[in-house]
Amino acid sequence: MNRNLALEFVRVTEAAALSAGRWTGRGEKNPADQAAVTAMRSAFESIEFDGLVVIGEGEMDEAPMLYIGERVGKGTGPRIDIACDPLEGTTITAKGGSEAIAVIAAAEAGGFLHAPDMYMNKIAVGRAAAGSIDITKSVTWNLSEVARASGKMVEDMMVIILDRPRHKELIAEVRAAGARIRLIGDGDVSAAVATAQEDTGVDILLGSGGAPEGVIAAAALRCLGGDMQAQLVFSDDAERSRARTMGIDDFDRVYKLHDLAHGNVMFIATGVTEGSFLEGVRYTGRGAMTHSIVMRSETGTVRDIRTKHHFDQKPRYGW
Ligand code: FBP
Repeated sequence: MNRNLALEFVRVTEAAALSAGRWTGRGEKNPADQAAVTAMRSAFESIEFDGLVVIGEGEMDEAPMLYIGERVGKGTGPRIDIACDPLEGTTITAKGGSEAIAVIAAAEAGGFLHAPDMYMNKIAVGRAAAGSIDITKSVTWNLSEVARASGKMVEDMMVIILDRPRHKELIAEVRAAGARIRLIGDGDVSAAVATAQEDTGVDILLGSGGAPEGVIAAAALRCLGGDMQAQLVFSDDAERSRARTMGIDDFDRVYKLHDLAHGNVMFIATGVTEGSFLEGVRYTGRGAMTHSIVMRSETGTVRDIRTKHHFDQKPRYGW
């Protein structure tokens, strides 16, 4: 995959963040999401590639833009699969909370699991604990293996979990094992990425969140040398038949990191609100400042990009 595309794609997440950032704390998540989607869609149009959205805003009949199967980019140049979440953390943005990001992952054609829009049980860890997780084993077993691999005591580990009633037993087991917990309201892509970033203090992500978000997080962990395992969580027959139409018929399958995202992948994100590894959008008299991260699995290079945008001098995508 052309490495320069990674730097082109940062314009796309910047555009989405600049647009959604305007909705920070305004109490409305749908317009925030819509602003990000519209800006991201327009920004894609300026880039020379032949993109196919494999993870996006939903099926064609439920999403007018960035739906699964939509072609993006100029239509010439390399064929690239795109997994995008224009605003990961719609409620976070509406409340002015932390860790909302605009994000895309890119892979060579066929590189991403075509994940249905349903829950996925996930374990994600950073480089030190890569190879020492097993989602088929107990939470207690995983905590002890990750602690051993990281050279820590279980009591010193920080586990990040979405604060949901469905995680009551999970939380109880982690507490019984003695580990510390950070409960988050939303945003398990940022949470998964945090496990593989130095200095965030987070060791492991546990629990279920969106399956599409799981694939996007897997791309980041591929770039950062972390690890992840996942299993789809089916709540009814409708979800099973939907998964079948997307080519999934082993409903108990354990997806390892490379099953979620394989080959050369890229991960690009821009902070919308303040977060542990990305600052939020800061508007200035002339425009705004954004903070982005750009990573590629091929080289493991992680670029931290701070951009000053001057609105009087550049094309605008809706902000
Ligand atoms: P949105 O950006 O669509 O609001 O999703 C946020 C999120 O917290 C994801 O990070 C997570 O994977 C998913 O929602 C969890 O879903 P639920 O809120 O149903 O538990």
